[in-house]
Amino acid sequence: MREISTVAVIGLGTMGAGIVEVFARGGLRVFGVETTPEYADRGRAILQRSTDRAVARGKLDEAGQSQILGRITITTQMADLADVDLVVEAVPEILQLKHDVLGRLDEIVPEDAILATNTSSLSITEIAAPTRRPERVVGLHFFNPAPVLKLVEVITTLRTDQAVVDAVVALAQGLGKKPVVVGDRAGFVANYLLFGYFTSALRMLEHGHVSREDLDTAMRVGAGLPMGPLTLMDLVGLDVCHHIGDVIYSHTRSQMHAPSPMLGRMVTSGLLGRKSGRGFYTYDRPGGGQVVEDAQTPAVVAGPELRTVGVVGRGEVADDLASRLEEGGYAVVHVPDADDSEDLRRLVDAGLVVEAQSVDLDLALADLQLDDLRDLDEDDLPGRDLDDLFEELGEITGPQTVLATVNSAAAVALGALSGRPERCVVLRVHEPTGNGQVVEIGRTSVTDDEAVAMMRELVTRLGAEPVVCRDRVGLVVDALLVPHLNDAVRMLDEGYASVADIDTALQHGLGYPAGPFAMIDHIGADEVLAVCEELAGGTSGLPRESVEASPLLVEHVLLDRPFTPAG
Ligand code: 3HC
Repeated sequence: MREISTVAVIGLGTMGAGIVEVFARGGLRVFGVETTPEYADRGRAILQRSTDRAVARGKLDEAGQSQILGRITITTQMADLADVDLVVEAVPEILQLKHDVLGRLDEIVPEDAILATNTSSLSITEIAAPTRRPERVVGLHFFNPAPVLKLVEVITTLRTDQAVVDAVVALAQGLGKKPVVVGDRAGFVANYLLFGYFTSALRMLEHGHVSREDLDTAMRVGAGLPMGPLTLMDLVGLDVCHHIGDVIYSHTRSQMHAPSPMLGRMVTSGLLGRKSGRGFYTYDRPGGGQVVEDAQTPAVVAGPELRTVGVVGRGEVADDLASRLEEGGYAVVHVPDADDSEDLRRLVDAGLVVEAQSVDLDLALADLQLDDLRDLDEDDLPGRDLDDLFEELGEITGPQTVLATVNSAAAVALGALSGRPERCVVLRVHEPTGNGQVVEIGRTSVTDDEAVAMMRELVTRLGAEPVVCRDRVGLVVDALLVPHLNDAVRMLDEGYASVADIDTALQHGLGYPAGPFAMIDHIGADEVLAVCEELAGGTSGLPRESVEASPLLVEHVLLDRPFTPAG
């Protein structure tokens, strides 16, 4: 196997230019090939900007920048590639175009050079088939931004030579990347899992379940991901997302990947994300990353003044809430014993009453249904049952008092019990993540905007970020994160990739704080399974395929076995 020291990248769009930078930073001599001088200049500008940014941040000095740029030759002549050891094509996702490019390279590059493709959606097998060297063709899939994200998916076909795989794996490792070797399947590891999650997020937005800002906050802050799904789609490019989504759907034909009509309309209208200056958000300029206000930017609506908040229930959750409310400047009336009608009467002047009974320590924050609570034995339930409590709260408090529960019984049921459906919400307090803390506010179709504005303000004053959504099982965070994790277990069960590979792919390809299996072990497989079952049985609005628990997840719960060695 020839040593890889000179490489070429065909196509200098965002990904191609990023890959050139990765190679040049790794000390390789790199040719970047474009079709026209204008495109060549665009590629040069991307490289200049990216390395300028590193200099501005003190990550690179000017001498280092010139060394990196000095290793790069940008050309419009493929004939310059006669001595390269490896070529990566990063041209648009059109099979015929890829065939044309590889066909020309076949004639120019040395017989034993490796032909790699950075395709994110097309079949490597189909790309390789007409070449003169299918055993030397491999997928080498980088992630955007390529200089930052460490994952490289190495995709093999039935004909790829093992020595070629070993060579590109060694090359990727030498560049400081984390290669994961997998077979040829639509979406490979990371995109396959990402696009199931994207599809559900798009459906939520399209159905008006949650606003674009709250959807992104839910996943960035609530789930701790580096970006919300809409910000990420804008970064990747909506045309690219639309195309990859279509390819995955054409393979799976699952509702989990059914194309979003809204995304199709946006692409047709030229709303392509950051690169066109407008996608889900509006940016300062085409190619810019600064979000600016537009017609959809939510106006800040002041809620009615709220002075006194009642907290009902004893235990960690109620105590924590009461003390945070006090710190937030509210007058707090804490009624630990929900059975004590005398004490409950102190809530008469409260503008908001939050039911925060700890059902038991483990279940305190679990997403319980009203029926689950009804089914529990009296002994299991140190607090009072919700029917009675909310009926009584409805009688004691004024008609404008907002009633809330952290125990996630449906707000609509509380509304019916208390006789004031327009003033009832559910609150879901999430564990803090590296990006902060989210409190979800579930509203029904009749909850009034004033009550919601008041809750938003309250959550903000508690130092958390509010996410308002329709009151459906799983709200936003659980409804998106848990099926995503379940999908990773399904991929493992299908034997496509290992736990370590899937965890590496999402942690280093999508910048997740941990891989999905590490997340499942952290949350508890039993908890993940419980949420899946709840989503499958409830009103989440998600397709069945995405919420049906993977049999392997069930197995791990029954065997009480973690997925990861550390778990
Ligand atoms: N090019 C080069 N470097 C960049 C960059 C870019 N476009 N954007 C950010 N960076 C660098 C910064 O210079 C900084 O480097 P430093 O730590 O050495 O100073 C580092 O990345 C962090 O940048 P910031 O502090 O400005 O921003 P964030 O901390 O918010 O990180 C992010 C930005 C790296 C984009 C992060 O939000 C992230 O990882 N998001 C997830 C992106 C993702 O999922 N990508 C994969 C998409 S799917 C895909 O590409 C596959 C394809 O087939 C569709």
